This record gives sequence, structure tokens and C-alpha cells, in this order.
Amino acid sequence: MSQISRRQFLQGGTLFAGTLALTACGGGANEDATSTQVADEAAAGEGATADEAVATTDYTTVEEGKLTCISNLFFPPFESMNESTGEPEGFDIDVSKSLAEHMGLEVNWLPSQDFDTLVPTIKNGGKADVAIAGMTITDKRKEEVDMSDPYVDSNQSIVIKSGTDETAETLDDAEKVIAVQSGTTGQEWAQENLPNATIKPLSTIIEAMSGVQTGLYNAVVCDLPVSKYQIKTSYTDLEIIEEIPTGEQYGIAVSKDNPGLLEAVNSALAAMESDGSMDAIEAEWFGSAL
Ligand code: ARG
Repeated sequence: MSQISRRQFLQGGTLFAGTLALTACGGGANEDATSTQVADEAAAGEGATADEAVATTDYTTVEEGKLTCISNLFFPPFESMNESTGEPEGFDIDVSKSLAEHMGLEVNWLPSQDFDTLVPTIKNGGKADVAIAGMTITDKRKEEVDMSDPYVDSNQSIVIKSGTDETAETLDDAEKVIAVQSGTTGQEWAQENLPNATIKPLSTIIEAMSGVQTGLYNAVVCDLPVSKYQIKTSYTDLEIIEEIPTGEQYGIAVSKDNPGLLEAVNSALAAMESDGSMDAIEAEWFGSAL
């Protein structure tokens, strides 16, 4: 994405390192959190060049030297669990690794949690620094947490089992069950646009798709990149009947108590856009830049 402003770069960031090391202080809202100074050397080492070093800001992390991340890890290709290694993988996982690298931190992923608990967890603080979850930037979420600059564009989709001949019109009926992931923008879209249908909030999109496959539900409303990927790789007997141009953008959720971290995340995202890291991650998971 090119929208991310270059204003967030500090030219010759290494010059600032000495000064800021002296002025670095705890001062975070969270008492047992550790204060972290962004390491310019680390940012300059991989990817970013010295004159495009990431801005140095003062912020806290729940674990010293680590960027602790949470997500709902059932949302491929953005995030999922690799069955053989048991490790999280996906677009957002690669984003988190590059983000941490640009910030001079190590990445630390916590176990998957329900999507609708991510914003409250970040808001409450103390457990994780960021939620990276294909999370749409919405005004409602921005009341609870800060959201980073956008890093992916997305839309919604309606998915049915091939051959069932459902349409958006036939689905808008109390007899029809529309599966959604609880707390998502897909749920919101379904509630607003299929007001007569029975909306079934589930804990994962995988459950929703499997349920459509077995005939338990009539349709799923979910993010288009995810439904496209799922239909191509696993759910080949499902089809997209409607692409809905909601114009959503994904951002990374950060606590409002940690404005320095939001700034550092935005600077790192900008560096990832300009040094090609983001394009490489897009190519890896979507075949080419989105
Ligand atoms: N983009 C949608 C939203 O923000 C769905 C995100 C679901 N993410 C996940 N990791 N399960 O509501």
C-alpha cells in the first residue's frame, strides 16, 4: 500500500540513537512493563538502509526486547497453525516478524484466542503488545484501542455450497442460516444486509466453512481474500456468489496507553512498504503484490 506516509521516517536515524538512549525512561502506564528503545542498528541491519532507519520512539513492551503478538489463528492465509510444526504461520505472521525486525525486537506469538477477545485483551494491557489479525480498522474499535496505519485492503464475500443456488435475495430469510465469525465485520455486514436471515456467530471461519460444506449452514459471510484462498486450497466445493466492496483496511491494534508503540509500529510499517519487505510478504502469500 502506498498510502502510508513517508513523514514517519527519520533521516539518519542513527544520529538520534545516542541522544535518545540518554533520555529513555520507563514512564509507561503499565508498571511491570519494560521500557524499550528501538534499536536503530537492528533496523538498519536488515532491509532498511541507514538513511531510512525507523523512527526512534519510547515505548513499553510486556516482555523486554519482545513484540508479543495475539491473533485468532484460524484465518488463512493471514494466520493459521502449521499442523506439522505447531507454529503459527501466514501473511500476518510474516508481517509480525518483519515488524519486530525493523523495531529491533524479537517476535513472540501467544496461543490463538477468539477474535472477539483481541481488542479487549489489548485494551486491558499486560498480556500482549499488538493484535495482528486481519483486523479491519473501524471507528468502533478505535474507541477501544489505537489502530496502526493500514497494511492490507479487503472486502467481504458471500460463500455458499456450489449447486445450492442461493442468492443474496434467497438468503435473506429466517429459514436460512448465515455463519459468520463472532465479532467480525462480516457479522456486522450480515446483520445489516440480511436482516431477515438467522445469523450464526461462530468462533472460527473454518467452522463456518465446514458447516456450509456439510449443509449445517446456508452461507458464510467473510473477508474476500480468506474465502478466495480457502476455496482454492481446501473448500473446493464452495463458491463465492457475491463480492461485496466494503473497502475495509486492516490495521494492527495497539493499546491507547502506549502511543510510542503505535508510532514505532507505523514507522516500521512505512519502512516495510518502502524497502520491499511488504511486497515480498504479499508475493509469498498471494502470488504477487496485492
Ligand atoms: N477483517 C475482519 C474483521 O476485522 C475479520 C478478521 C478475522 N480475523 C481473524 N484472525 N480471525 O472483523
